[in-house]
Amino acid sequence: MINELLGCEIIGTYAIETQELTKRFVLDRGFLDVIRNTGKRDVLTTLDGVNIKVREGEVLGLLGPNGAGKSTLIKILCTLILPSEGYAYVNGYDVVKEGQTARSSIGFVTTDERSFYWRLSGRENLQFFATLHNLPQTQAKARVEELLDVVHLKHRADEPFLNYSAGMKQRMAIARGLLNDPMVLFMDEPTRSLDPGAAKNLRDFIKEHIVGERGKTVFISTHQLDEAEQLCDRVAILDEGRIKVQGSPAELKGSLPEGSSLCDVFSFYTGKAFVEESSSPAPFKLRRERRRGLGLGMKRKGY
Ligand SMILES: Nc1ncnc2c1ncn2[C@@H]1O[C@H](COP(=O)(O)OP(=O)(O)OP(=O)(O)O)[C@@H](O)[C@H]1O
Ligand SMILES: [Mg+2]
Repeated sequence: MINELLGCEIIGTYAIETQELTKRFVLDRGFLDVIRNTGKRDVLTTLDGVNIKVREGEVLGLLGPNGAGKSTLIKILCTLILPSEGYAYVNGYDVVKEGQTARSSIGFVTTDERSFYWRLSGRENLQFFATLHNLPQTQAKARVEELLDVVHLKHRADEPFLNYSAGMKQRMAIARGLLNDPMVLFMDEPTRSLDPGAAKNLRDFIKEHIVGERGKTVFISTHQLDEAEQLCDRVAILDEGRIKVQGSPAELKGSLPEGSSLCDVFSFYTGKAFVEESSSPAPFKLRRERRRGLGLGMKRKGY
């Protein structure tokens, strides 16, 4: 556990803390591009000096347009990918130097349904993932039953996962994220593809059970401004890899003329209208398109 002085602040006093966190991706290049431009590298800076602090028991909402870097930030904090520069601490553990310990203290809720076994029942799925956390069998069974209760799925637990509705699958993903009883729960767009009613149920569930009763810290990325407003104690707006502003929804709205909404705050700090599918042009995609034009296959086809 890191507890050393850096400047005048003690690292480890926050559930999540990043310092000048930067991530650069070296982009794939076509064979001909590599031959023609030897030594040249296409680099995409996805996160650029991100500083963020989240207190224990707090819900932080990460907002930003498509391609802003939200999932990349969550992946670094969950120790799934390494940063290029800077530091990140979760529960006081350095995600690079103490990755394994950091990992055991966090839960990650991903919306990817394919990561479940569709022919296994809900209960069997959770039991399988519990064994991956090295929980002793009796403890694993007890934890699975407890979590099935928490996510209100006990009555459907023996049905195959493929029978579940989108909302039920999301609740299964949350149960899986809580299997190791983590202090911090990361959620990447957990209400994506849910209808408004199911999304509200999930928000209430996070607020009442996960934060209220269990005292977890929650780091959630979302495209829903009303969700951020209802659920989050604080909101950070990320755009083009930089944190533009962070604060409580009330503070952020208060920083603009009276009557401003979170949507106005988003537009003010990013310079973009808040449209769910709006996005800054993705350099990655543009470059890929350009390379395709140079490809041998395209030339043969006479493009
Ligand atoms: N492995 C990778 N290699 C190259 N570029 C990547 C990689 N992963 C992400 N990127 C690029 O980094 C940028 C940020 O991606 P990221 O998925 O973090 O955005 P996001 O804010 O989660 O977007 P969305 O709202 O669409 O989920 C994008 O331009 C993306 O193409
Ligand atoms: Mg994303």
